Amino acid sequence: MHAVGIVAAAGSGLRLGAELPKALVPLGGRPLVCWAVDALRAGGVDDVVVAVPDPQQAAFTAVLPADVQVVVGGDTRTASVRAALAAASEQVDAVLVHDAARPLTPPDVVARVLAALAAGARAVVPVLPVVDTTVVVDDDGVVAADVPRPPLRRVQTPQGFDRTTLVRAYAQAPGPAVEFTDDASVVRAAGIPVHTVAGDERAAKITVAHDLRMAELQLPGERNR
Ligand code: CTP
Ligand code: MG
Repeated sequence: MHAVGIVAAAGSGLRLGAELPKALVPLGGRPLVCWAVDALRAGGVDDVVVAVPDPQQAAFTAVLPADVQVVVGGDTRTASVRAALAAASEQVDAVLVHDAARPLTPPDVVARVLAALAAGARAVVPVLPVVDTTVVVDDDGVVAADVPRPPLRRVQTPQGFDRTTLVRAYAQAPGPAVEFTDDASVVRAAGIPVHTVAGDERAAKITVAHDLRMAELQLPGERNR
């Protein structure tokens, strides 16, 4: 099975509030996007396409390995993935879509996603259980309902797909009025079942400054000062 990895790195990182686009923010001295590319490759992905913000194309090309394909992303994550998917080779069987904002994803997670695809799944996502009590609140912030926790999962990336399935799902996806926060929801909207494998807390997404500090603490050995 030949797999291409798509790294969504075209966001600005408003909630992180750094001066750079989030994917260029350093973790242990290296941009987040470089960690994300390494994670995909270490887990068994063959080629990588990275979607980047238009104004910072040169800055991304300067830090990424020469054999990574760089494309200009869009205004939404969905538009960025769509652009990278259009640029990816049609000669691959599988596509793994990953957030640049999940730099410390263990290669095992990538390998589990690839294994599920090799075993015949057309779509697969890494998930973790929800550990907090989870409720629904009304417009006044008053708890309106408890949500039964056992069936709930938090969805991570990389999310893996049979290439044709993903391309068809994106072709059928409704326009920008409907916002998708991940790729599995695009595929599910096309009626394709999405399977799950075990995620990993270390694949957590860096969204706010606290998440970056937590990631720094996870760095191994001498990097962790
Ligand atoms: N992303 C993208 N193109 C966009 C928006 C987001 O490729 N137009 C990517 C981000 O670079 C990130 C991933 O999607 O790796 C997950 O999005 P998120 O964590 O929301 O990142 P940002 O959109 O950059 O951050 P924020 O929402 O805080 O501005
Ligand atoms: Mg965002």
